[in-house]
Amino acid sequence: MNVHLYEKIWMWASGLLIVAFLATITVGVAGSALQPPSHVETIDPTSVWNDPRFAKRGVSVDEHGRATVVVIAMMFAFQPAEVHVPANRPVTFRVTSADVTHGFEIVGTNGNTMVVPGYVSQFTTTFRTPGEYLIVCNEYCGLSHHLMSAKLVVEAQP
Ligand code: CUA
Repeated sequence: MNVHLYEKIWMWASGLLIVAFLATITVGVAGSALQPPSHVETIDPTSVWNDPRFAKRGVSVDEHGRATVVVIAMMFAFQPAEVHVPANRPVTFRVTSADVTHGFEIVGTNGNTMVVPGYVSQFTTTFRTPGEYLIVCNEYCGLSHHLMSAKLVVEAQP
């Protein structure tokens, strides 16, 4: 079969592109440890307020200095509305929704997750820069979606 030179070039070029795309994924996963959130934990969305995992909301710090932040998202607020965490320590966020799908984005950081009713969203990150950060809902959840925010205060450690 006679394949035209230009066609051969295009075929090789598109093949090369596929290899390049696969390489970026491999480098991202193996090199930078970038992974999509894979934490799967379910919860009854109608009773999150009574669920023992979300009974004590806010920040708790264990003996190694690791902080855990437990938050309930609802129309149109986060509970609690302000959290204080230590800088340069791993902080694990555990967020669930009491009603519809919300977002949980800590503006200016890599902290960002969807909050889907029926699931517990969890991610761990470390904040290097002390200061005040805005937490916003970035999934449209109703008429007052734009008012749904909270505050994160990253405190420098002595
Ligand atoms: Cu919650 Cu938008």
